[in-house]
Amino acid sequence: MRILITGGAGYIGSFILRALEDKYELLVLDSLEEGHIWAVGGHKLVVGDIGDEKILNDIYENFKPDVIIHCAAYIIAPESCKEPFKYYENNFYKSLKMLKFFLERNLKYFIFSSTAAVYGNPKYLPIDESHPIEPLNPYGWSKFFFERAIMDLKNVYDFEYIILRYFNTAGASLDGKLGQYKKEPTHLISRIIRTILGFYDRLEIYGNDYPTKDGTAIRDYIHILDLAQLHKIALEYLLENKKSEIINLGYGRGYSVLEVVELANKILKPFKYEFTKRREGDPAILIADNKKMKLLFNFVPKYDDMELILKTSYNWEIYRIENNLK
Ligand SMILES: NC(=O)c1ccc[n+]([C@@H]2O[C@H](COP(=O)([O-])OP(=O)(O)OC[C@H]3O[C@@H](n4cnc5c(N)ncnc54)[C@H](O)[C@@H]3O)[C@@H](O)[C@H]2O)c1
Repeated sequence: MRILITGGAGYIGSFILRALEDKYELLVLDSLEEGHIWAVGGHKLVVGDIGDEKILNDIYENFKPDVIIHCAAYIIAPESCKEPFKYYENNFYKSLKMLKFFLERNLKYFIFSSTAAVYGNPKYLPIDESHPIEPLNPYGWSKFFFERAIMDLKNVYDFEYIILRYFNTAGASLDGKLGQYKKEPTHLISRIIRTILGFYDRLEIYGNDYPTKDGTAIRDYIHILDLAQLHKIALEYLLENKKSEIINLGYGRGYSVLEVVELANKILKPFKYEFTKRREGDPAILIADNKKMKLLFNFVPKYDDMELILKTSYNWEIYRIENNLK
């Protein structure tokens, strides 16, 4: 079974590679714009753009994927408010072109990395998969437009898909040798660790006037190792049941930004923080209803532990700096 992983040199893709490597033949397609050779870990890599038909053709001729796991995307919601075209072009238009290219060549299985950002501000909590779709930013819309396109294409082409809506993914490998790296991280936990290690003199907390218990935004953080394992299970589910699904991936509980900050202060090292104004496009609360994930995938999370998320992220950042991984 041959699997093409787009964005496999990025954070989530690199862990999916590790989760699948024992059982499947894998190929990564990544532009390396945001990805890293070291993250691919010696797997076969095509450096190129998902929108480049010549490259897609080469991949088709030489690899003929049975399954595509599509992780490649731009992912920074606040940036998408300032540069909407960049997000619609990459996350929607190029993704659509790529999917059409392979569907026309008989692709049968497609797994898509979507996001809880499609939901917008929750109308109720926790958020299940039938919650209304009202993204607060072009990033969320770009991901939803592509979801919609997948569903419509299903009416015309003979294939099955699983759309996985991730909540906040965080953490690193248990040995601290693989994790997330962005030159200018925007995710909370990466920024906390960089603040502790002296890259910033203080952490900015965006908004303390949200309608939450302590005024800071609440998110459902899922450890990357559980998330990656869930892709393996989703793939097996898809191959066995041949049934398309949309599934939330989260632990079903939320931590406020302040709770994460205070825990990191306690168990890692003390650091300074300050409150600043809200960022554009950030919902107040995102917590997954993960009943469907648990039921369909029969999945019991192994790493549902914020201390572990923080400690693995910290160990990874030290390893990354010591080994000059960029
Ligand atoms: N990180 C999260 O918390 C989170 C949450 C929800 C959803 N997601 C989704 O998960 C996926 C992976 O996110 P990530 O955190 O690993 O991001 P990432 O930036 O680390 O990885 C994305 C990868 O895609 C590559 N890429 C982007 N555009 C490309 C293109 N046109 N052609 C080829 N390669 C391209 C980048 O070089 C990068 O390696 C994304 O689709 C994102 O929307 C992430």
